[in-house]
Order: sequence, then C-alpha cells, then structure tokens
Amino acid sequence: MKSNMLRVGSGSQDPVIVRASPAMRDLCAYAARVAAGDAKVFLTGESGVGKDLIARYIHARSPRAARPFVAVNCAAFTETLLETELFGHTRGSFTGAYRDRPGLLQLAHRGTIFLDEVGEMSLRMQSHLLRFLESGEIQTVGGAGSSQVDVRVITATNRNLAERVATGQFREDLLYRIKVIHLHIPPLRERREDIRALVERAIARSGRPIRLTQEALKALERYRWPGNVRELQNVVERLVWMSATDEVALQVLPEQVRVSSAAGLQPKRERRRQLADDLYHALVGSHYCFWDHIHPLFLRRDMTRHDLRQLVHRGLATTRGNYRALLKLFGMPESEYKRFMNFLAAHECVVDFHPFRVETEPVRASASAGETASPRRGGPLAPREVA
Ligand SMILES: Nc1ncnc2c1ncn2[C@@H]1O[C@H](COP(=O)(O)OP(=O)(O)O)[C@@H](O)[C@H]1O
Ligand SMILES: [Mg+2]
Repeated sequence: MKSNMLRVGSGSQDPVIVRASPAMRDLCAYAARVAAGDAKVFLTGESGVGKDLIARYIHARSPRAARPFVAVNCAAFTETLLETELFGHTRGSFTGAYRDRPGLLQLAHRGTIFLDEVGEMSLRMQSHLLRFLESGEIQTVGGAGSSQVDVRVITATNRNLAERVATGQFREDLLYRIKVIHLHIPPLRERREDIRALVERAIARSGRPIRLTQEALKALERYRWPGNVRELQNVVERLVWMSATDEVALQVLPEQVRVSSAAGLQPKRERRRQLADDLYHALVGSHYCFWDHIHPLFLRRDMTRHDLRQLVHRGLATTRGNYRALLKLFGMPESEYKRFMNFLAAHECVVDFHPFRVETEPVRASASAGETASPRRGGPLAPREVA
C-alpha cells in the first residue's frame, strides 16, 4: 500500500497473529526461533497474506524489540528519493538539502529495517544495498565519510524474484544476500482453517455483537480470497457496518463471495451458465475489473474457456457487438484493447460480434435487409471494430 510508505516506531508490541491452521502455526514457531538471531529474513507471499505482520512479529520477539522498527516501502519512492531516505544526505548535496539528514538505516540503528517490495528496487539501488549489506557501512549521499550501523534486515516481496533474476531485473548476488532465511506465507485459500478465526477476530475488533450464520461462514470459507487477509478484514468490516441486524446471513455477503460459493454448490451444467452470469454481474454491477478479478480465475482454471466465451457473449449482447464498449463494461481502459483481444485470441475465446450487431439492428424493409442480416464471413480472429 502506497499510504504506508514509511513507518518508524519502536514496534515492540507483539502483534496478534491468528494461526488456526497448521501452516500458520509452523510458520509462527519458525519465525519465533528465527527472531532470536540476527540472520536476514526474506518474506514472500501474495499481497495481504501478512508479510508486514510477520516482520513486526520477528522484530518484537527479537533482542532488538526495544529499538526501532523501520518499515520502508521501496516501491513508493523514486530511485533518488529512496537513496536519500535510506542513506541520508549531507547539507548542500542537492537543491533543497538545507541540512544534514540521517537516513532510515541510521534511524534503525540497533533495531530492524523492513524493506518491503524489495523487488521493485532499481538496479542502482540494489547495488547500494548490496554494498551496505556487505560492509554494514553507510555512505551518505553527498557526504565524504561513512558510518557503521548495526541493523537487522528483513525484506519482503510478492513477486517471483527468481524470475526477475532470470530477466536481469534483480541482482542474483543480492538475492542470495537477503535470502538467508526464507519464510513463505501461503495464500489464505491454502489455509482455510484460518478463515473463521480471522473473521471472529475482525468482528471482535469492531466492537459490534455481530454473528454470522453457518451458511454465511461456510461461504466465506469457500471463497478464494484473492486479496487474502486484507480483503477478509475489509469484507467483515463492511458487513459489520452494513448489516441492519446482529445476525449476518448469506444474502448480505458481498457478491463476489456469494458467486464463488454458489459456483461450488451447483451441479456442473447449471453451474457453468450461472458462473458466466454471476461473473458478468460482478463485472458490471460491482465494478470489478477483468484483469484483477476474472483473469486470475481463468489462470487458476476456476473458469473454463467455455465460461469465458459465455461471459464475452453476454458482454457483446449488452454492447451490441462493440468490443471497445465491452472493455469499458469489464472495467478496462481503452488502451487495453489489444491486450484483451490478444488474450481472447490466444485462448480461442474471441466471439464473433457480427450476430450481435445484426440482432439489434431494427427490422427494416427487405431492401436493406440483405446488407444487415448477412454476417460477414471469416475475418481474422481478432475482429476489427467498425467504429
Ligand atoms: N494471521 C493473521 N492474523 C491476524 N491478522 C492478520 C494475519 N495476517 C494478516 N493480518 C492482517 O491483514 C492485513 C494485511 O496484512 P499485511 O501484513 O499488511 O500483508 P502483506 O504485507 O503481506 O500485504 C493487516 O491488517 C494484518 O494485520
Ligand atoms: Mg505489506
């Protein structure tokens, strides 16, 4: 999250971590052991799984707990800004540098620095960081001297850094340096035992005496939670404030949750038609975006090519065969036209738009009927727009 660009605090309170699943229990036990030492920790996992939380937990359990915990979101700064943020600058080193300023690494002295989204660092910053990790020395921007600091380094990313190494975007030597201890936090859908406990905790924190029906809880357990714990907290928070009664039933759950729950329950054929319908409503009614919400389902094979075609079919029916309008309908900017069409073509899911145009044309006298009613033949896979 860009808003949490940077936080500095003693961070000594032990954060509460819900761990009903064996996976989370093991992970916390491991993290607690790791906390005792000084080894660099590398946290991976999708957005919202709890990487921040685990970083704090490790700090809070470490001998450094009384010292600062400094969190930096590397993606939130430009290269030069990140450099001065981390390493500080001396007076006059650039326009606006009126006085010496210590960097966050210095502020974290004897504590912990948490470098979030480390995969986004530029190659130049990566080499600065590497130099620091090798020497423990800080070279202030514009400064002549250098100083030694004692900081424990925890890094996190939701990217596949091995892939970035392969494409030359991340230094392999740096990856080895930061990845002394690697903790992977699995997505929430792979540890569904945590869901109820997390819901309970979120409700308890709201202070409202809300109770979910068994049916509603089951639906929450079945849902895929692409946004993981963060999404779950948002959903519960909204429920708490939206529900008129103290009991929350299935019907009150957000559409995306009900959709996936219903999809899991129905017989297959029924399910398929329903799925395309539900996804369509989620896209159009709840302002979902195709790439964020539908594409992942497709990649995970939660929906088939047939489902995708059905969805496009529904969209074209609404836009009268206009693919550009369909893009908008599905929450995509116009600039994604090519990407979307290529995606459909690659999966053989391009639906011919001509019938939709014909169908919606007002019935005319036979003189012009020939022209509107005959669908153009063949054509390339990616249909060209007529305007
Ligand atoms: N196991 C957990 N128990 C309690 N709260 C959690 C747990 N995992 C994540 N959270 C909460 O979910 C939200 C997102 O977690 P965060 O650590 O910011 O995720 P990430 O850094 O991986 O995106 C935070 O409010 C965090 O406190
Ligand atoms: Mg985070």
